[in-house]
Amino acid sequence: MTATTAPLTAVPEPEGRATPRRYLMCRPDHFEVSYAINPWMDTSTPVDRARAIGQWEALRAAYVAHGHTVETLAPEPGLPDMVFAANGGIAIGERAMAARFVHPERQPEGDAYQAWFEQAHRDVTRSTDDNEGQGDFLQVGEIMLAGTGFRTSVAAHREVERFFGVPVVTLELVDPRFYHLDTALAVLDAETVAYYPPAFTPASRTLLRRLFPDAIIATDEDAAVLGLNAVSDGHHVFLSAAATGLHDALRVRGFEPVGIELSELLKAGGSVKCCTLELH
Ligand code: ARG
Repeated sequence: MTATTAPLTAVPEPEGRATPRRYLMCRPDHFEVSYAINPWMDTSTPVDRARAIGQWEALRAAYVAHGHTVETLAPEPGLPDMVFAANGGIAIGERAMAARFVHPERQPEGDAYQAWFEQAHRDVTRSTDDNEGQGDFLQVGEIMLAGTGFRTSVAAHREVERFFGVPVVTLELVDPRFYHLDTALAVLDAETVAYYPPAFTPASRTLLRRLFPDAIIATDEDAAVLGLNAVSDGHHVFLSAAATGLHDALRVRGFEPVGIELSELLKAGGSVKCCTLELH
């Protein structure tokens, strides 16, 4: 008689799948909307800077309360978008690549982030092509998803692949409201993402379906409040408090949404992930 193999029962994920993370943030001390480089920005809309700082401090406090480490870099006058730290570059282990911004208004930020990386990482380089850091580069397990179409170039995708030695999958963005990959796709854990299909070309949608057949598909309403601009520690997902549909979808999958209010920063087209550069 041959022993029959018992069917493998799915092992439920432990409650606390969260792992401690390190984030780099930049306080919005000089935040304003003084130029418009994406459709969310309207220079005639008044911005309450004190409120922006309060909202940003609450995000930082939420990370710390969940066991994460937050590093900060000094905000610089004249760089109102510097609060969007995700765009400063990419950092993995000892290596870091500082961004090369597309718009002249943000270009000096690249030097500031490079200087920060230089005191924290052993092997630092500067992108030689248009590269807006983790706004367009999101790591999922062993691969790097990379956005293009509005900011980061395909040449930069190849450069990141060479420098970090990770396979980079190019995804093409088509809707100007979702100009960075991190406005249209959120990484939830090493194999799970949530995304908004209309933000991508048909070819990129096909690619995403094949790579992530079980992905959470965001609704128009959740995408429109930048709900996908989220940060996950593997269990807790920090995201716009207004993305209520996404909160429910996350709970169904065993994630725990943590609602964050960043309405002032949304006036510049940014939310949770934009304010957060993960030091992988
Ligand atoms: N005003 C900024 C820009 O248009 C917002 C950047 C948002 N950052 C992000 N990672 N999506 O460049």
